[in-house]
Amino acid sequence: MEQKEIKCTVIIPAAGQGKRFGNSLPKQFLNLEGIPIIIRTLMVCDKIDFINHIVIAVDTSYKKLLRDYIKSFGITKKITLVKGGKERQDSICNSIDNPHVQNSDIILVHDAVRPFASTKLYKDIFDSALKYGAVIPGIKPKDTIKLIDPKGFVNSTMMRQFLRHIQTPQGFKTDIFIEIYRQMVLRKMIVTDDASLAERIGVRVKVIDGEEENIKITTSIDMLLAESILKNNELKKLE
Ligand code: C5P
Repeated sequence: MEQKEIKCTVIIPAAGQGKRFGNSLPKQFLNLEGIPIIIRTLMVCDKIDFINHIVIAVDTSYKKLLRDYIKSFGITKKITLVKGGKERQDSICNSIDNPHVQNSDIILVHDAVRPFASTKLYKDIFDSALKYGAVIPGIKPKDTIKLIDPKGFVNSTMMRQFLRHIQTPQGFKTDIFIEIYRQMVLRKMIVTDDASLAERIGVRVKVIDGEEENIKITTSIDMLLAESILKNNELKKLE
């Protein structure tokens, strides 16, 4: 199939309440140097030709705010808003019945709160999803990571060369994606990312290089880091 004929939908879970952030407005709607975080994420998607549609899972009470932001910041991609769920995986589950998801060849799932994933990373994930069926980006940990027991004592030390911090976008062929979510509901599985579901039902998941800047804005420290990344990106443009 020609790349132009391959239909790709991005699902963006954006229904988190941002409890770890300690702010009344969920973090995805907070301004980062004048632009809401979720809009920065959408601005990256807007630049990518192979993305045909975006489905965003959002809490009903923030739908209007998001619609207003999308309009006022001039996002041009076609976007469908669906209802968010209790957990991230429920939010994604609510997106699956959407016809754009069902009629896609490739699904990318990307956290609303990761505005710095580059267009290159989206492309690498898209290409690898076509090749491997299921793919996730990861970066090597800088710290030593230990497994501890429930009493807080070290159980074992993990071999760092085989560890990765996993990010999004995560990419899947649509049939694999629909199957993993079907199994999730059937088996009542609870996970923090989509690839964990794939692993549990025996799908081999390829890991490719992620990006250090592709942080998930979760706490107020992350917001400071995000401001620095933005400044650094601006400087890089001037070079
Ligand atoms: O909570 P966490 O940091 O893992 O959230 C990652 C992404 O999942 C965020 O973009 C958040 O808005 C989204 N999310 C969601 N529905 C939930 C919880 C989180 O869409 N119930």
